[in-house]
Amino acid sequence: MTAQYQVHGDIAVITLNNPPVNGLGLSTRQGIADGMAQANADAAVKAIVITGAGKAFSGGADITEFGSPKALQEPNLISVIKVLENSEKPVVAAIHTVAMGGGLELALGCHYRIAAPGTSIALPEVKLGLVPGAGGTQRLPRVLGVEPALNMIVSGEPIKSEMLAMLPGQKLFDKLSASAESLAEEALAFARSVADVRPLPLVRDLKCKHPQGDAYFQFARNMVKGMSKNFPAPGKCVDVVEAATKKKFDEGMQVEREAFINLMFTAESKSLRHLFLAERAASKIADVPSDTAQRAINSVAVIGAGTMGGGIAMNFLNAGIPVKMLEMKQEALDRGIATIRKNYEAQVAKKKLKQDKYEQRMSLLTTTLSYDDLAGTDMVIEAVFEEIGVKEAVFKELDRVMKPGAILASNTSTLDVNKIASFTKRPEDVVGLHFFSPANVMKLLEVVRGEKTAKDVMATVMSIAKKIKKTAVVSGVCDGFIGNRMIEQYGRQGGFLLDEGCTPEQVDKAMEKFGMAMGPFRMGDLAGNDIGWAIRKRRYTEKPDMKYSKTADLLCEKGRFGQKTGAGWYDYVPGKRDAIPNAEVVAMIEEHRKALGITPRKISDEEIVQRLVFSLVNEAAHILEEGIAAKASDIDIVYIFGYGFPAHRGGPMNYADEVGLFNVVQAMSRFAKNPLDDAKFWQPAPLLARLAAEGKTFN
Ligand code: NAI
Repeated sequence: MTAQYQVHGDIAVITLNNPPVNGLGLSTRQGIADGMAQANADAAVKAIVITGAGKAFSGGADITEFGSPKALQEPNLISVIKVLENSEKPVVAAIHTVAMGGGLELALGCHYRIAAPGTSIALPEVKLGLVPGAGGTQRLPRVLGVEPALNMIVSGEPIKSEMLAMLPGQKLFDKLSASAESLAEEALAFARSVADVRPLPLVRDLKCKHPQGDAYFQFARNMVKGMSKNFPAPGKCVDVVEAATKKKFDEGMQVEREAFINLMFTAESKSLRHLFLAERAASKIADVPSDTAQRAINSVAVIGAGTMGGGIAMNFLNAGIPVKMLEMKQEALDRGIATIRKNYEAQVAKKKLKQDKYEQRMSLLTTTLSYDDLAGTDMVIEAVFEEIGVKEAVFKELDRVMKPGAILASNTSTLDVNKIASFTKRPEDVVGLHFFSPANVMKLLEVVRGEKTAKDVMATVMSIAKKIKKTAVVSGVCDGFIGNRMIEQYGRQGGFLLDEGCTPEQVDKAMEKFGMAMGPFRMGDLAGNDIGWAIRKRRYTEKPDMKYSKTADLLCEKGRFGQKTGAGWYDYVPGKRDAIPNAEVVAMIEEHRKALGITPRKISDEEIVQRLVFSLVNEAAHILEEGIAAKASDIDIVYIFGYGFPAHRGGPMNYADEVGLFNVVQAMSRFAKNPLDDAKFWQPAPLLARLAAEGKTFN
């Protein structure tokens, strides 16, 4: 049973006990209902306390039940709350640590609420593309006032109990306990003090009005619309809270119910729920149990103070972990440190970082020119030039000086991690940590597991990733790992589209309309077109029969490397990031087309999106089949957190599932017939073909 029942003198205590956060799954809901029946039937019981065991009052609905019949199975949460409201004996919620979503709604159904200071209070449903579904939108405005409640519901952000307790006239809490430790005792005493109160107070009976009703809600609606263009849920939050102010309680509940159910079936909500579960799943590695002993990481060394080294170091400084940076020359160190300072100072100027915090972080940073100084550090991350010879020299030095058990990581983006490991006598301690640029900003971290990487190294780096606030995904060793291997195919399709009749602007616009943070050509300009150029030059010898458009090479031959040279597919004004279309580039593409004898055709946005996104999907299917990625949802996480794929589409694999794999394969066979495209590439990967034939999905 995931809810326990105990009697303390004349008070019954129902304790939710469904670790980790006392999710309100079916058995917990049943436990509460049973406890309520028992307490009301027992003449010796005068009042009831509901609380949570362990690390939460309740984190809310059991998300694994979402969309499954179990979530609706009686007693559902709305029915349980009715049981509380109809109880003949007073019910007191004793809230601590976390009361979110359904957990907060449950508390709002109680007659009284006593909270420990420091409790995180939220209705986070909007983050899953939903509105609260068990009365939260109707009851929270009644106890907090319309504006504070709507802010909480639209943002989904948690607020501490002591902050909410300061709101004038709030009725959310009847009392704050002196401390978390004294909550249980104080709740029992409070329950005794209200045991004889009749009639019992109900939140639903409180008034809910806004003095400037229509004007306020119009204003709120405009604000929300501007911020949430691809998501219907925030706008719905405004509608349902407005209903709370204009309709009777039960009618308002009906409005909330309808909004909840309609949103539950939207692609946006499905995508967000998928990502929520995918992110949690990504941190688990099938053959590395969660109780694997970890190595202690209390200090880190970074080799190379360039673009990546500096950003990587900042992640650890931000987390309070000391960093020692090594370079070949003092000037390089000075330049690296100056960049880190500049980054932090910009944050201080924007008031995102306090001066003393900045100084504290910088005090954790030391530098050296000598490998011998690294002997005491627990982990080292190499971010030197991307050349295997340079990596070899560095790893031999690391092997010589690092203490036994230290983790040796490489930030290589293309080189073979197994080969790098072989430069040492301890390949089991070597792992790839592929950060994305800018490394202090981008959330994604690809953890590249070498053939010999030890399990405890994997467990340790996954937990370090969490500590530095990265979303880590495990990748096997292959050229480009998960993300860049897929983006290469996407880039190739982009090139064909130019040859066939598109402008870079048309392709980018179509992809940005689809929801990508940036189209492929703006992205190329940001990352540097020379990087792709270098890779293609390698491919021309490695894979001579792979087909490429030559336009990107022609662009690079003009020195148009992107933002860093002020010119790429677009022009850039110094200090600004706006992409300004360039007539010369368009003429260059047209001339190239002419030289190839291609008559340009008009290509629809739909075709652009499908060719680019399905190229990702087909390559991803190969990646899955080869075991480079363990699960399709990992690939979705890589693309959402590392490549600006729109969250409301849930990642490329989730999107393909939504479109239907049968349709994806049909589209591919159409693309394969296009003589200017690459027919061989469009042969569906065996896994994709199989799933499509069986009517199955990736996720
Ligand atoms: P960078 O050229 O900005 O920095 C490299 C730094 O390493 C330079 O400061 C150089 O002085 C130093 N260095 C070179 N050889 C060294 C040695 N033997 N000992 C000590 N320091 C040495 O290069 P960037 O962009 O930071 O790249 C570094 C690594 O990160 C490469 O492996 C690259 O593939 C990878 N990477 C780069 C990304 C990017 O977007 N720039 C993204 C992800 C990974």
